[in-house]
Amino acid sequence: MIKTQIELTERCIEILAIPPEKECLILDIGCGSCLSGSVLSEHNHTWIGLDISKPMLNIGRENSVEGDLLNIDIGQGFAFRPGTFDYAISVSAIQWLCVAEKKKDNPLKRLKNFFSSLYKCLVIGARCAFQFYPDNPQQIELITKSAIESGFTGGVVVDFPHSTKKKNTFFSCKLDILRKVLMKLLKMFLKLKMMKMKMMLLIIFNKEEKEKEKSIMKVFIKVGIGF
Ligand SMILES: C[S@@+](CC[C@H](N)C(=O)[O-])C[C@H]1O[C@@H](n2cnc3c(N)ncnc32)[C@H](O)[C@@H]1O
Repeated sequence: MIKTQIELTERCIEILAIPPEKECLILDIGCGSCLSGSVLSEHNHTWIGLDISKPMLNIGRENSVEGDLLNIDIGQGFAFRPGTFDYAISVSAIQWLCVAEKKKDNPLKRLKNFFSSLYKCLVIGARCAFQFYPDNPQQIELITKSAIESGFTGGVVVDFPHSTKKKNTFFSCKLDILRKVLMKLLKMFLKLKMMKMKMMLLIIFNKEEKEKEKSIMKVFIKVGIGF
């Protein structure tokens, strides 16, 4: 268990592809007893861990880990100053968001709370690597879809897909900056009641990724913003 958590954390760090020598602030989601956090410390990163379980966090505290630990249910959302974290990892935790543990739990809503809170607290250019244990392909879709709807772009990486013992699923994602800019523009145009511009932006939203940039330029030129 300990060895697995350490290896999975190392793999998440590899997926993040952090430039060598860069010391970062990393959010560890579902940090548990902080085995993953200790690996982050070994790589000279500063980290903050979130976990729903006080007993798990207490194990971390007893081991005097370096990260700050917060008792938070990620399904209810969380708030940090916007642009706080450079990266985020999660090892063996986010699959729990797909399960309704209480009658009132709505997995879709909990995933949305999680990804939208995460989106707000990451810096532009931030990347995330989440290892998780999906029970079925629907859970993978639920997680990736919720992330995309909250403003992320990314994909699923499966290590050793044909091995029952070594198979591991990761969701690697980053902020969809283009979407962030478009959303900001959309809000601005809405405020200014520029309905025509709003329509144009909505059309851009539905365009292929490659065409988006050209189309944005056209909108900027139309509203008189030069480069
Ligand atoms: C396998 S453990 C993670 C272990 C951790 N990577 C480590 O190195 O110690 C999964 C953790 O996810 C946490 N978790 C599950 N659901 C959660 C939620 N809704 N919010 C926050 N943490 C959650 C559990 O309490 C548990 O500590």
